[in-house]
Amino acid sequence: MSALFQPFTLKDVTLRNRVAIPPMCQYEAVDGLANDWHHVHLAGLARGGAGLVIVEATGVSPEGRITPNCLGLWNDQQTEALKPIVAAIKAAGAVPGIQLGHAGRKANANRPWDGDDHIAPDDARYWQTLAPSAIAFGQGLPRVPKAMSIADIERVRNDFVAAAKRALDAGFQWLELHFAHGYLGQSFFSHHSNQRDDLYGGSAVNRGRFLLETLAAVRKVWPEHLPLTARFGVIEYDGRDEQTLAESIDLVKHFKREGLDMLSVSVGFTIPNVQIPWGPSFLAPVAQRVREETGLPVSSAWGFGTPDAAEAAVAGHALDLVMVGRSHLADPHWTYAAAKQLGVSKPSWTLPAPYAHWLERYSG
Ligand SMILES: Cc1cc2nc3c(=O)[nH]c(=O)nc-3n(C[C@H](O)[C@H](O)[C@H](O)COP(=O)(O)O)c2cc1C
Repeated sequence: MSALFQPFTLKDVTLRNRVAIPPMCQYEAVDGLANDWHHVHLAGLARGGAGLVIVEATGVSPEGRITPNCLGLWNDQQTEALKPIVAAIKAAGAVPGIQLGHAGRKANANRPWDGDDHIAPDDARYWQTLAPSAIAFGQGLPRVPKAMSIADIERVRNDFVAAAKRALDAGFQWLELHFAHGYLGQSFFSHHSNQRDDLYGGSAVNRGRFLLETLAAVRKVWPEHLPLTARFGVIEYDGRDEQTLAESIDLVKHFKREGLDMLSVSVGFTIPNVQIPWGPSFLAPVAQRVREETGLPVSSAWGFGTPDAAEAAVAGHALDLVMVGRSHLADPHWTYAAAKQLGVSKPSWTLPAPYAHWLERYSG
């Protein structure tokens, strides 16, 4: 009996299995609007059998986008453009989720295939980046951001709330706040990027304040019966990992008290040149520790993209849900193929009836 192909229920939402498509930027939007490519991409992945499909990092404000071609959710037109995509994901039997984010000092970059670097100030697509402190990321993202005022902090928090309301209006049933990967939330938490001397900097409690307040504000408008989750880099691999992990777990316990339902455990990516121990399932022990110490269900990604690795992560109680990204880009029906490989005999566990009926009838 496969553990990966057991349903998973969180609040009033039940996923048909424990495979999730993590958010994956497509960098194909204009003015933050979802288009035919997002529709084909996301509906196709949903049809492949995963229980949950999370739409890519979507900017809560124009300056919160990673690139000028990222999705946004700050106006009604963007909400309307997402509605048919939400419907298509549901029609394919998956639960539609969305990741809301603000890219902070890593914003205003060129697409990965156009250089992955900051856009030059004399380019018409240039905008000012924001961060807790005026400290650049470095490498290809050398721009020094504006240190946010208290009014900036309040405005961005309100942008998250407004975007969450729009996500609900668009029909999403699962919301993930992007507090990972060196973007705004993560950069508030990390001492590498946050050197403020006010209530939002200094101690771990202060560095976590922006994240916690944003989460609490979003929870007020995101219905109790729907999952509210966050992606958070609990470790940087910068040589002070035990301390970072302990501080992160402490913050996640506060998240839980403010109504977080699940954590997607990831890496901080706050500074370049860290020693990440890439390898199959490398985050599994970290995620399991977060799960055990916080009592929250957890998911994770990075290296769970083989059926055996995904199955082992759930069966071994490291993860409640496995994010499988790039393997789904290589094969959008990865989940169905994984079910077959793991000996799941009923395609109806992963596919809607118009496919499952014929595959069950003619299997073998
Ligand atoms: C094309 C691409 C875009 C990505 N965009 C995002 C994103 O929008 N938000 C995010 O949190 N992670 C993003 N990631 C990271 C993935 O969510 C995931 O963590 C990563 O691909 C590792 O999982 P995998 O080994 O199964 O691919 C992206 C990854 C890829 C390959």
